[in-house]
Amino acid sequence: MKSCSAMESTSCIKFSLMSLIWIIVLINEMHVYKGCLETERTALLEIKSFFISVSDIGYDDKILPSWVGEDDGMPSDCCDDWEGVMCNVTTRRVMQLSLNYTERLNYYDGTSASLLNMSLFHPFEELQSLDLSGNGFAGIYENRAYDSFGSLKQLKMLNLAFNDFNDSILPYLNTLTSLTTLILNWNSIEGSRTKQGLAKLKNLEALDLSSNYYIHGSLEGLANLTNLQVLDLSYNQNLTTLGFADLPNLKTLDLRYCGITTIQGI
Ligand SMILES: *[C@@H]1O[C@H](CO)[C@@H](O)[C@H](O)[C@H]1NC(C)=O
Ligand SMILES: *[C@@H]1O[C@H](CO)[C@@H](O)[C@H](O)[C@H]1NC(C)=O
Ligand SMILES: *[C@@H]1O[C@H](CO)[C@@H](O)[C@H](O)[C@H]1NC(C)=O
Ligand SMILES: *[C@@H]1O[C@H](CO)[C@@H](O)[C@H](O)[C@H]1NC(C)=O
Ligand SMILES: *[C@@H]1O[C@H](CO)[C@@H](O)[C@H](O)[C@H]1NC(C)=O
Ligand SMILES: *[C@@H]1O[C@H](CO)[C@@H](O)[C@H](O)[C@H]1NC(C)=O
Repeated sequence: MKSCSAMESTSCIKFSLMSLIWIIVLINEMHVYKGCLETERTALLEIKSFFISVSDIGYDDKILPSWVGEDDGMPSDCCDDWEGVMCNVTTRRVMQLSLNYTERLNYYDGTSASLLNMSLFHPFEELQSLDLSGNGFAGIYENRAYDSFGSLKQLKMLNLAFNDFNDSILPYLNTLTSLTTLILNWNSIEGSRTKQGLAKLKNLEALDLSSNYYIHGSLEGLANLTNLQVLDLSYNQNLTTLGFADLPNLKTLDLRYCGITTIQGI
C-alpha cells in the first residue's frame, strides 16, 4: 500500500478505513464458518457412538464411517460430507437423517432387543424426515422419551420399518402430530391400543402397518385419521375386523393377505 502524501491525506484515510472495514468483514465471514451447527454436530457424533454401542464388536469402523471430526486435516462438514445427513441450505440445520440399517449385528433374528434412545434426537428441532428402519429396536428408553418426541415439532416422515416395536411405542408416536407419513411395517404391533395410540395424528396421509404378524385388534382408532390417503394393512393374517367403514380421503387401501371378514359400520 502506498504511503499517504500530505495533499491526499483525507481521501487516503478514507481508503485505509475502507480496506480495514473489508478486512473485518472478511475475518467475520471466515468466523461464520458455513458448517453445520455445533450442537447438532456433537449430537450426531453421540448418535454414532450409540449405534456402535448397540452393535456387535468388530463393526466399529463400518458404522457411519464418514461421520468424523476431520477429513485429511480439513474440518469435515456434517451437512455436506456426512452420509445420511441432509441440512436446510439456509439455516444449515439438519432436516433429514437416514439411519436405516445402521445397527450391525453378526446374526440378526429380529430380536436384537436393543432399545432406542430418543434423547439423541432432542437437538434436531428442524428435523423433517427420520429413517430408523432395519435396526431391530425392541422398544425405547422411557426416561424423558416424551420430551424428546415432543421436540420433533417439524417431523413429517418417520420410518420405523423392520424393527421389533410393539404397542408400547404407540402413545409416543401419537404425540408426533406433524407427521404425514408413518412406516411401521415388519414390527410387532398388535393394534389393541391403536385406538388411543394413533388417533391424534390428524395430518397423517400415509400409514404402513403391513406385516405385523400379531395385529388382531379392530384398529378402530384409524377412523380418526381423516386425512389418510394411503393405508397398507397387507400381510396381517390375524387381522379379521376393521373398526371403520370409510375414511373420506382414502385413495389406496391394501388388504392383501389379511384375514378381514368383518368391517364394522357397513
Ligand atoms: C429452510 O429454512 C428456511 C428458514 O427457516 C425455511 O423458510 C425453508 O422453508 C427451509 N427449507 C426447507 C426445504 O424446508
Ligand atoms: C437407506 O435408505 C436410503 C433412502 O431410501 C437408501 O438410498 C439407502 O441405500 C439405504 N441404506 C441402507 C444401508 O439400506
Ligand atoms: C440417551 O442419550 C442422551 C443424550 O445423548 C444421554 O444423555 C443419555 O445418557 C442416554 N441414555 C441412555 C440410557 O443411554
Ligand atoms: C413391548 O415392548 C416393551 C419394550 O421393549 C417391553 O417391555 C414389553 O414387555 C413388550 N410388551 C409385549 C406385550 O411384548
Ligand atoms: C376419535 O374419534 C372418536 C369418535 O368420533 C372420538 O370420540 C374421539 O374423541 C376421537 N379421538 C381423538 C383423539 O380425536
Ligand atoms: C394368528 O393366527 C394363527 C392362525 O389362525 C394362530 O395360530 C396364531 O395363534 C395367531 N397369532 C396371534 C398372535 O394372534
